Amino acid sequence: MLTSTMVLDSENLETPLYYYDLTLLKETLIEVVQSAKAYDFHVHYALKANNNPRILQLVQSMGLGADCVSGNEIDLAIETGFDSQQIVFAGVGKTDKEIRTALKHQILAFNVESVQELEVIAQLAAEMKTVARIALRINPNVDAHTHHYITTGLDENKFGILTHELPLCIDLIRDNELLQLTGLHFHIGSQITDLNVFKSLCIKVNEWNEWFINRGYEVPILNVGGGLGIDYHQPDEAAIPDFKSFFAIFDEFLIRKSHQQVHFELGRSIVGQCGSLISRVLYIKNGIKKNFAILDAGMTELLRPSLYQAYHKIEYLGNDHDHKQQTHYDVVGPICESSDCFGKEVSLPELHRGDLIAIRSTGAYGEVMALRYNLRENISFLYKE
Ligand code: LLP
Repeated sequence: MLTSTMVLDSENLETPLYYYDLTLLKETLIEVVQSAKAYDFHVHYALKANNNPRILQLVQSMGLGADCVSGNEIDLAIETGFDSQQIVFAGVGKTDKEIRTALKHQILAFNVESVQELEVIAQLAAEMKTVARIALRINPNVDAHTHHYITTGLDENKFGILTHELPLCIDLIRDNELLQLTGLHFHIGSQITDLNVFKSLCIKVNEWNEWFINRGYEVPILNVGGGLGIDYHQPDEAAIPDFKSFFAIFDEFLIRKSHQQVHFELGRSIVGQCGSLISRVLYIKNGIKKNFAILDAGMTELLRPSLYQAYHKIEYLGNDHDHKQQTHYDVVGPICESSDCFGKEVSLPELHRGDLIAIRSTGAYGEVMALRYNLRENISFLYKE
C-alpha cells in the first residue's frame, strides 16, 4: 500500500512525481535472484523498462546482468557498474556507432536480428580487430497472448532472423574467425500472464537447439528473453511476481545440454510494481454525461494507457475515505488529446482540487516512456528506502 507517510507530507509534494519503493524492489530482486539460482539460471535486467539511476544501482548491486537496446544503454550499464561480460545487446536496428560501442566493451553477446546485421558486425569487428560474440535471434512463431503492440514472436513481427536464412548465418560465422557463435536468442513478447505460453516457447527452443546441434553447434547460451507479466489489478496482493513458477517451467520443459546455460532478460516483472505515478487533482469537471478528474499528470508522464489502453489501478491517497462518497470519474490528464485518459468511470471517493492520486504499477515502461510533448515540466521523484 502507498501509505500515509506520503499523505502526511502531501502539502509539500511537488507533483507529478514518480514514487519508487526501493524496499519492494530489493525484495523482488532477492526473490528473482534466489529463484533463478535454484536452477542455475542467469538473469539480465532489461534496462529499457526503467533506467532510473537509483533503480539501476540496486539492480546492479544484486549481481544481475544487463539487457540493452542502444549504445547509450550499454554506456549507462557500464557506468553503473554492470560487468560488460554480462551485457547483451538486442534490437532490429543497431547503428554502426552502437555496434562499435558494444565491440569496444567486448559485451557478452549481440542478439543479432538479420543476415545484413551480421555482415555489418563482421565488417566493424574486422575494422576494430576484435571478436564479436553472436547470439542469433530466432523468431519461434509462438503467440504470447498479449497486446499486439508488444507481441514480438510471430512470423508477422519484424523481429528475429528469418529461419530460412539461418544456414546462411551459420556459413558466415563458420567462415569468419572474428564471429563467435555464443547463443540462441528468443523473445516472444511482454506482459505475458498465461504461463503456458512459456511451455510452447520451450518446445520451440528445444527444436532449434537440436537443429544447431545437428549442424555441429552446441551453443553455450540459450537466451529465452523476458516477458513475465505482472498483476496490474492487484499491485499490493501480488507485489512480487511468481518467479518460482516461471523458472520452474523452463527447468521442466527446456532441454539443455550439460554445458548450456539458460539466460533470461526480465524487465517489467522486476521493476513494474515498485513504481507509482503520484499526481494531484487540478480540477473537477462535472459534465453532462461524465465527471472528469483532471490531473497534473498526463500521457506525457505515463503513456501506457493512451498507447495500449493499458489498465493501471488508480487510488485516492487521502486518509479520510470514510467521510467521502464514492463517485465515478474519467481520470484524465491535461494534454490536448482525447486519448490522454488514465481510466474511465473509475470509482473513487469524491475528489477535490489538490487531492493526491496514485497510479499504480508504473515502475516499468513509465518514466522511460515520458515525453517532452507540450514542453511539460520535468517529473519529480520520491524514493522509499
Ligand atoms: N528482451 C527483449 C528482446 C525485449 O524486446 C524486451 C521488451 C524484454 C527483453 C523485456 O521484456 P519484459 O520482461 O519487460 O516484458 N512498452 C511496453 C513494453 C515493451 C516491451 C519491449 N520489449 C509496455 O509498456 O507494455
